[in-house]
Amino acid sequence: MCGREPWESRRCGPTLAAMAAQDLAGRRALVTGGASGIGRAVAARLAEAGAAVVVADRDAAAAGRVAAEVGGTAVAVDLTDLAAVDALDLDVDVLVNNAGFQHVAPLHEFPPDVFATILRLMVETPFRLVRGALPHMYARGWGRVVNVSSVHGHRASPYKSAYVTAKHALEGLSKVVALEGAAHGVTSNCVAPAYVRTPLVEGQIADQARSHGISEDEVVEQVMLAPAALKRLIEPAEVADAVAWLCSPAAASVTGTSLRMDGGWTAH
Ligand SMILES: NC(=O)c1ccc[n+]([C@@H]2O[C@H](COP(=O)([O-])OP(=O)(O)OC[C@H]3O[C@@H](n4cnc5c(N)ncnc54)[C@H](O)[C@@H]3O)[C@@H](O)[C@H]2O)c1
Repeated sequence: MCGREPWESRRCGPTLAAMAAQDLAGRRALVTGGASGIGRAVAARLAEAGAAVVVADRDAAAAGRVAAEVGGTAVAVDLTDLAAVDALDLDVDVLVNNAGFQHVAPLHEFPPDVFATILRLMVETPFRLVRGALPHMYARGWGRVVNVSSVHGHRASPYKSAYVTAKHALEGLSKVVALEGAAHGVTSNCVAPAYVRTPLVEGQIADQARSHGISEDEVVEQVMLAPAALKRLIEPAEVADAVAWLCSPAAASVTGTSLRMDGGWTAH
């Protein structure tokens, strides 16, 4: 249902401005983790802007559904499999590094294999994808790399050692890409949201309720929204709009930055 607030009306479909802006017509965009949550919203938003979108996700069925919805193509791939990552067609103009997952556990109990997998998926794979895509972007003198980071790319929280480490590393990688890509018409930026209403967060609410020994409602109110000034979850479409803006002509001079969509969390 359409509401009165901007984030509510955004759920009703594309704004007139968004429908008019076909900034990405003729461009090819790869969105990792595009089958769900933020990636799904990004795939839809970039398609709305005219891009041919490739949805890369390990969930083949969901990736296929999203690709069908947005008129794009699906690639079923486990992005922790580096050989499979290296085999992807990376002749793209826009690369959105979005795939990720969370694991919540105290450091002294954190499973080392999960730590390694999170770093592979959320740091090493983005590195390999950028590495493979940049020569194509350089050849055309234009490219947009958008890394879906997090407020946890700027701030730490207990029990999230791998995720916080990975997002801080992704922020660093993004800045190096910005410095190297600038001369070739390539920008690289991060979007850093606080909690977004997605399946990943719904899973975290349950996990944190167990870790903190409190109810799920208390997790949202007392843990997730406590550090933010804006007391609501962010919608995936808001993050997608930010990604699309970073790919638009309006953001041509924006590179090496991290757009904090964190409801004021890092203003503290
Ligand atoms: N939801 C939030 O509150 C929030 C906040 C800040 C940042 N983020 C970041 O946004 C990104 C997307 O998160 P989301 O909330 O939309 O999650 P989600 O769980 O809804 O979607 C993640 C997608 O990534 C895919 N994926 C996971 N592991 C994969 C793998 N090994 N290979 C291929 N695909 C894989 C999943 O299948 C899923 O489709 C993540 O990087 C996350 O860290 C999320």
